[in-house]
Amino acid sequence: MSVLGPRQVLELAKVSRTFGRGATAVAALRDVDLTVSAGEFVAVMGPSGSGKSSLLALAGGLDRPTSGGVLVESTPLAGLGLNELARLCRRAVGYVFQDFNLIPTLTAAENVALPLELDGVPARKARRQAIDALRQVGIPELTDPYQLLALLVAVPLTGGVLAWLFTRARLPMSRRGVGT
Ligand SMILES: Nc1ncnc2c1ncn2[C@@H]1O[C@H](COP(=O)(O)OP(=O)(O)OP(=O)(O)O)[C@@H](O)[C@H]1O
Ligand SMILES: [Mg+2]
Repeated sequence: MSVLGPRQVLELAKVSRTFGRGATAVAALRDVDLTVSAGEFVAVMGPSGSGKSSLLALAGGLDRPTSGGVLVESTPLAGLGLNELARLCRRAVGYVFQDFNLIPTLTAAENVALPLELDGVPARKARRQAIDALRQVGIPELTDPYQLLALLVAVPLTGGVLAWLFTRARLPMSRRGVGT
């Protein structure tokens, strides 16, 4: 703790979020004040519909409040453009979703590397860091999508397997071909 007190990582000041207008308007959050300091563990609890997801979306810059202010790392989100907002929230806010929210067409390592690449880390370095991170959480086997392919190549290739491999390889090429 510094002489200035604990570092505030998140601050909501009189935040309200209303969905819709007029007779059908729903007030998801009304005048919420919340301060979260570095290292603090906070649980947001309440019945279904009480505004938990709405609050988390605002805290991560995914949504804007109807009124009031949200500050992440002491930066008011209201003053940021879309790019600055995305950059700050990518670095400062992380969500662990109940479902996986992965991009299904990417491998595990590519999913992990993607935010790094969006932050300007060169692809190779991002991939190395992703593989390290996967190792740290004990799933290094998910880093290499070609392991299965390597296994296939290791056994004597029959004509059928070869034909199958060539078909697979040609598919993306042909797709690119029709795009030009
Ligand atoms: N995009 C939206 N459009 C209209 N109403 C919404 C929208 N998102 C949330 N609401 C309403 O705002 C209120 C708060 O919803 P929210 O999803 O934040 O609650 P929750 O606490 O996360 O609920 P749950 O425990 O079911 O996930 C609810 O009445 C909900 O119907
Ligand atoms: Mg919810």
